[in-house]
Amino acid sequence: MAVERTLSIIKPDATKRNLTGKINAKFEDAGLRIVAQKRIHLTPAQAGVFYAVHKERPFYGELCDFMASGPVVVQVLEGEGAIAKNREVMGATNPKDAAPGTIRAEFAESVGENSVHGSDAAETAAVEIAYFFSGLELVG
Ligand code: CMP
Repeated sequence: MAVERTLSIIKPDATKRNLTGKINAKFEDAGLRIVAQKRIHLTPAQAGVFYAVHKERPFYGELCDFMASGPVVVQVLEGEGAIAKNREVMGATNPKDAAPGTIRAEFAESVGENSVHGSDAAETAAVEIAYFFSGLELVG
């Protein structure tokens, strides 16, 4: 399987509860390497650009406000099949459907405040990584 990179965001509900280390341990235990990471505070407009694909969804405004409600940790995870592996480690979007042991099963508060985001495909991973990081910041 090819080595891939994927964009991960530890969301405000998780940074607020001091869960960055516990979530990063889940990634590392699964064999994903954190090759870039920074803690930032998005504006609603910056979150809106990131989530533009959801612009027509009824929860878009709420999602943008939530993502700007506190600091987030944006990171690039690298590993064999990293995109799918990260989605496995995160668990289903709605924590009610997330498998035991996954990040969302253990930490997420609701479908909106679900602790982490991860890219869903190679094309989106490339766009999402470039939104937050320059090539010089990716240290494999
Ligand atoms: P994420 O993987 O970051 O991608 C889009 C996000 O929209 C998703 O996680 C959820 O946090 C959020 N989302 C999806 N469905 C809903 C919903 N019904 N209500 C509020 N937020 C949602």
